[in-house]
Formats: sequence, C-alpha cells, structure tokens
Amino acid sequence: MKILIFGKGYMGQRCAENWGEEAVISEVLVETKKDALDEINRVKPDVVFNAAGVKGKPNVDWCEDHQLETIRGNTVMPIVLADACAEAGIYMLHMGSGCIFYGESPHEDNAWREDDFGNPRPVYSRTKWAADLVLSTLPHVGIARIRMPIDWMPAPGNLINKLASYPKIIDVENSVTILDDMIDVFHQLLDKRATGIFHVTNPGTMKHRDLIALYEELVDPSHKNEWISNDELVSQGLASKGRSNNFLHSENLEKAGITMRPIKEALRDTMEQYAQALKQGESDPEGPNLC
Ligand SMILES: NC(=O)c1ccc[n+]([C@@H]2O[C@H](COP(=O)([O-])OP(=O)(O)OC[C@H]3O[C@@H](n4cnc5c(N)ncnc54)[C@H](OP(=O)(O)O)[C@@H]3O)[C@@H](O)[C@H]2O)c1
Repeated sequence: MKILIFGKGYMGQRCAENWGEEAVISEVLVETKKDALDEINRVKPDVVFNAAGVKGKPNVDWCEDHQLETIRGNTVMPIVLADACAEAGIYMLHMGSGCIFYGESPHEDNAWREDDFGNPRPVYSRTKWAADLVLSTLPHVGIARIRMPIDWMPAPGNLINKLASYPKIIDVENSVTILDDMIDVFHQLLDKRATGIFHVTNPGTMKHRDLIALYEELVDPSHKNEWISNDELVSQGLASKGRSNNFLHSENLEKAGITMRPIKEALRDTMEQYAQALKQGESDPEGPNLC
C-alpha cells in the first residue's frame, strides 16, 4: 500500500518512519485543491493520510488569538484535501482530536461516543470539531481521533517529559493514546479504507497520578510535585483556557475488528522503553508538542 502523508510534523514523521517504504511524506503546503491534486498525481498513492494541522506554539493557547491561521490549517485544509481525494478517487484518513468534548458526556458511563456532538470552546478544538463535523459526511474519509499521545521517545513536548517537569500537575483522569499503538491502528485503518469516526485511545483511563507513579518507579524515584485541580490551572495563571479532560469510547474500532492494548499494560511498556531510551541518551528535541 502506497501512503501519501501530508503534514511533515511530529505525527507525520513518526508514522512515516514506522511505515518505511510504504510511506511518502509530502513537502507541499496545501492551500488549494490544485496543490493537493498535483501532489497526488505526482506520487500516485493508494491512500492519503492527513497529519497536517496547526496546534500552536508553544501550545494551543497560541490559537486563541491566531484564529484564521488555525482555521486554515485545521478546518479549510482538510476539506480542500478531502475534495482533491474525492476527485482522484482516493481514500483519506484524517487525524482528529478527542479534545472536542468538554464536561459530562450524555451517557451513563460518562464516555463520549464517536457520533456524539462536540462542544468545544477553545479555538483549536473548535477548528478540529468543525472539520470532523463535515468530513464525517463523506464516503471516502475516515477520521481517527487521538488524545494526549504518549511516546517512549524522550522529548521536550512528550507528555511524560512535560508532566514530570511541572512543579504543579493537574489531578485529572483521561482516555489517552499510546503512540506505538496509534501508528499500528492508523495503518490498519488505511489498509481497510475504514470510513467514519474512530476513537483511537487505549482501553481504560489514565490518571496523571498513574503516569507520575510509574515515572517515579522506573525513571526518577526522587521526583516531587504538587497536585492542583483543572480550575486552578487557569486561576493560578498556568494556562489561559482549561484543558479538555474526558473519556472516549471506541465502539467503531471494535466493529472494524481493531484492538489496542489496555492502557495499564501499554503505559508500563512505554515508560520502560522511555527509561531505557533515557539511559542510552536518546532524545528527540523536535518531538511532540501536545494539544
Ligand atoms: N500532538 C498532539 O498532541 C495531537 C493530539 C490530537 C490531535 N493531533 C492532531 O494530529 C495532527 C498532527 O499533529 P502533530 O503533533 O504532528 O503536529 P505538528 O508537529 O505541528 O505537525 C503538523 C504539520 O502540519 C503542517 N501543516 C500545517 N498546515 C499545512 C498545510 N496547509 N499543508 C501542509 N502541511 C501543513 C505543519 O507545517 P508547519 O510546521 O510548517 O506549519 C506541520 O509540519 C494535527 O492535525 C493535530 O491536530 C495532535
């Protein structure tokens, strides 16, 4: 399967490394349908993977006053790309975000389903939800939503590095995505040309406390931090908007016959690999920047 990847950022490059010769990562900045079609006609892929997007630097708070850049990258560009893929008769998998759900879910188990309506306030999340809202009507598009990706490769933006470096950490519980598992699931979705929305999160939930406990066990037993609430994050001036904390239910992955490791198992494995990589002096200065 020849996969054309748009978005030469963290996710695009991590997927490309893993998919090896199957993947071609595009250098093209897509602004028009012609930009995308020219690249599709040049590469002649079997499928397209959209890992392009704008998530703000140093973090998503940047998007709050860069609305148009964020809308262009996260809403307009995916629609333009989907339009080009439709014309070329090619399936597209688009990277969505689970950070579009805020507050209590309407379900008894408090987990959000793939077809629930998003209710985001922050600009970044609105632009991601706006894309999902319309792309999910298309018969040649799959949407893979991830949440708080966790990687074994130490990097300044890796959730493990970030949480471990904060003197104050919010005491929350979430659905999260282990990166190695995500890359494998994306490949399966591309292979199946799976359409609709998929919550690509490991079964179970993770408290920040679980991650820090593993960090203290496997990486740094002398680590110390204070715990604060999500509301205190904003009231103490540590962020301009509260972060989305939620549980995602992955009904559609199950239906597609795709499974992911339970989060407990996958998180321990990832922390063990992280500790090993640190010992060997491995680190990726260009690594992920969470959104
Ligand atoms: N990382 C996370 O925590 C996370 C969580 C949930 C969802 N996601 C989604 O996953 C996707 C990839 O995230 P990432 O972490 O890999 O972000 P990233 O490292 O910032 O990479 C995104 C890439 O897309 C490129 N890009 C932006 N607009 C483009 C356009 N019009 N045409 C072509 N390329 C364009 C950017 O180029 P420039 O750098 O030159 O602008 C950048 O190389 C995004 O859609 C993001 O919303 C990420």
